[in-house]
Amino acid sequence: MSDDLYRRAREVRERAYAPYSNYKVGAAIRGASGGVHVGANVENAAYPQGNCAEASAIAAMISSGETRIAEVAVIGTGSALCTPCGGCRQRLREFAAETVKIHLCDAKGIRKTVTLADLLPMSFGPDHLGGKSPAEADAAEVIRARAPKLKPKVVLVLGSGLGSVADAIKGAVTIPYKDLPGFPRPSIAGHAGRLVLGRLGGVPVAVLQGRVHLYEGGSADAMTGPLRLLRKMGAKTLVVTNAAGGLRDGWKPGTLMAISDQINLTGRNPLTGPNDEAVGPRFPDMTEAYDRKLRKAWKAASKKSRVAVEEGVYLAVTGPSYETPAEIRAFRQLGADAVGMSTVLEVIAGRHAGYRCAGLSLITNPAAGLSDAPLDHGEVVAVGRNGAARLVRLLTAFVEEAGG
Ligand code: HPA
Repeated sequence: MSDDLYRRAREVRERAYAPYSNYKVGAAIRGASGGVHVGANVENAAYPQGNCAEASAIAAMISSGETRIAEVAVIGTGSALCTPCGGCRQRLREFAAETVKIHLCDAKGIRKTVTLADLLPMSFGPDHLGGKSPAEADAAEVIRARAPKLKPKVVLVLGSGLGSVADAIKGAVTIPYKDLPGFPRPSIAGHAGRLVLGRLGGVPVAVLQGRVHLYEGGSADAMTGPLRLLRKMGAKTLVVTNAAGGLRDGWKPGTLMAISDQINLTGRNPLTGPNDEAVGPRFPDMTEAYDRKLRKAWKAASKKSRVAVEEGVYLAVTGPSYETPAEIRAFRQLGADAVGMSTVLEVIAGRHAGYRCAGLSLITNPAAGLSDAPLDHGEVVAVGRNGAARLVRLLTAFVEEAGG
C-alpha cells in the first residue's frame, strides 16, 4: 500500500517546476476513501513564494472532493530526507489527524515514517470541528459542522429515480457519503450517494439519497449505520420510498401506494450478528413495522395534496432479475400488493433503532405476467421520473402532517 504512495510521489516529483532551486519535491496523499492525490513543487521568479508539493497535493485532493488525509509520502532531491515545512505541516493538520503517517522517502524508497504529531507537537486543529481534524471527526460532527442549526426530525430514504425529492428540500446542505464515516461508499451506492439536510414542508429532514441494494453486492446492513446515527442525533420518523411493481389488477403505472406492512423474502436481515443493546433489543417486535398513526397520516396528506394514495403490502426480493409470472402469482397468494428490491431491511434496522416508520411505493409497472409487455428497467425509471412530481407533493404534505 505505502509502496504505491511512494511510487506516485516519485513520479510526480519528475514533473516539478523548480528552475531556481533545482530542488524537486513530490508528494502523494492517500485520502480516507482510498484515492491518491499528488502534487509537485511549483516555483516562480520570486521563488520563495512558490507552492510546496504537499500544498499542491492537498489542492488536488480538495478539487477531487476528498477532505480527509489517511497517509502521506514526500520525496525531495538527493539523499537528505525532505520533511514538510512548517506551513505544510499545519496545512496537513487541517485535513489529517495527528496520528496520520508521513513517509519520508529518497531514491531507494521509504526511509523513515513519522506521524504528524512527531513533526508538529503543538498543532492547531480546525476549530469548526471542535479541535478535531476531519479524519478524526465522526459523521455526526461532520453533519453538525456543515448544518449547525438543523436538527433533523424525519429521515427520508429515496428510491432510485426519486431524486427530485431532494431538489424540493429548502435550504439544502449536501454532504457526499464519502465525507461521512460509516456511510456506504459511493462506488456501491452510485453517483447520488449523498445526505441532503434541509426543510421539507417546514420540517427539518435528512434525506438519504442513494441506498445500497443487495443486488449491487452490498451488505444487508449497509444503511444501518446512517439510520442509527440520525436516530441518535434526534430523528424519530423514518420514511422509505421506492419504485415497485404492482400486483393488484387495475393499478396503473404512476399509482402511489402507502406501505401498510412488509414481507421480507430477501433471506437477509440487517440485525444478524452481535446485538448492540444500546441501540435496540436482540429480538425487536415487528408487529407494527409501519406505524399505525403514520398510516392514517398518508390519508390526511392525500386529501391535503389532492394526490390519490392506495395502501398495500410491500414484498422484497434481492433481484436483480425481475420476477417470473409464477413468482408473482405466488406473491399474490402470500398477500403482497407490490414487489421491489429494497426498503424492508431499512425498516427492520429502523424499528430496531426505535424509529416509527412509514413507506411509500411508486408503482412503475404491472408486475411480471400481469401485462403483455416484458419488464424494462428504462421504462421503470421513466415512470419514476414522471410520477416524481406527485410523489413530492404527497410526501411534503405527509411530512408536514407527521413530522411537524
Ligand atoms: N419488480 C421488482 N422490482 C421493481 C419492479 C418489479 O416489477 N418495478 C420496479 N421495481
